[in-house]
Amino acid sequence: MIYIGTMRILGIETSCDETALAVVEADGGLERPRFRIESSLVASQAELHAEFGGVVPNIAKREHAKNLPILFKQLQTINDKLQTDIIAVTVGPGLEPCLWEGITFAQSLARDLKKPIVAVNHMEGHIASVLLSQNGSEIKLKKENIKFQFPALVLLVSGGHTELVWMKRWLDYEILGETQDDAVGEAFDKVARLLGLPYPGGPEISRLAEKARTRPPKMSKAELLTFPRPMIKSRDLSFSFSGLKTAVLYALKNPPAGGPELDKADVARAFEDAAVEALVFKTIKAVKAKNPETVLVAGGVSANRHLRREMETAVVDISASIPVLYPDPAFTGDNAAMIAAAGYFHTFKKDFVKPEELRAKGRLRLTASAS
Ligand code: KG4
Ligand code: ZN
Repeated sequence: MIYIGTMRILGIETSCDETALAVVEADGGLERPRFRIESSLVASQAELHAEFGGVVPNIAKREHAKNLPILFKQLQTINDKLQTDIIAVTVGPGLEPCLWEGITFAQSLARDLKKPIVAVNHMEGHIASVLLSQNGSEIKLKKENIKFQFPALVLLVSGGHTELVWMKRWLDYEILGETQDDAVGEAFDKVARLLGLPYPGGPEISRLAEKARTRPPKMSKAELLTFPRPMIKSRDLSFSFSGLKTAVLYALKNPPAGGPELDKADVARAFEDAAVEALVFKTIKAVKAKNPETVLVAGGVSANRHLRREMETAVVDISASIPVLYPDPAFTGDNAAMIAAAGYFHTFKKDFVKPEELRAKGRLRLTASAS
């Protein structure tokens, strides 16, 4: 089968606590990929898991099984005579019982619709998400006439991953550095829990930290608190966030002497300052070492406003001609449009998988492409 012209891809995502289906129209090939989102549906289970303070795999699996047919019906209602050329499904990394729900759904769809399947790595979905926009396909750049170009340096920041990835082309990945313990999103969630904030904690911490930043300086107690900048002194490009979480725990148990009582916003700000500084520091180190044409930041934590501001300032300081790209806010979190977009790239490599050979791979890593 030769794929030229416009293609329709149906994306399926169930790696964690979001059940998502999407239909994306794509063209332009690997050189000039362009995407138009026909529909992107996400059923979030965050509220269900909130009372447990984190994702409960069996509940998540049950909800995926319940939600997939409901979302599919909605897709059929939106897209009269649902048409698709390819089915793209997340096979990892993620919670295996959850991944299997998406896989078995993809298998039965492939049989019913008689369409080929491509297997997508959830993290390459996050990378592809920078190309998506709610109003069709356009890469939003601050400066006119700057194109997305390879090689690209990608900072992936989510609930399960913190990685710096080098890409010479689509689907070609070299991991330059990664976290040695907790992912940064996990650290946001754990600190939020220490502060008694609801799950998922990232957006809550971010909101409180922004509040603390806009208070008059006299009212801010954040300077009394300075958390360590993890791994900043290490020579490599790895990260570590579990020590930072422990530092927050100790500060809450033994607040700085002589000062007024710390409030949650001060702690959130001091934590966010430290976490973001560590992310930006290592990204800049990689920019200096590798000289990318473009810097991408993707994954759930890429929604963080402080991270976006600090990263842009730091990259511009090195070179005003390196654009920093983030996903549209609608696509920072888990969604299936990004899986469909990554699936488009796999179609060009003819990475088709026989339905019965699909497997969930909980710890799937990004690896270099053969071609
Ligand atoms: O990519 P994602 O939706 O799911 C995974 O693949 O893990 O990322 C979820 C993570 C959670 O840890 C959540 O707290 C974090 O992204 N997150 C944020 C923000 N929004 C979501 N962290 C910091 N600031 C935010 N604004
Ligand atoms: Zn994700």
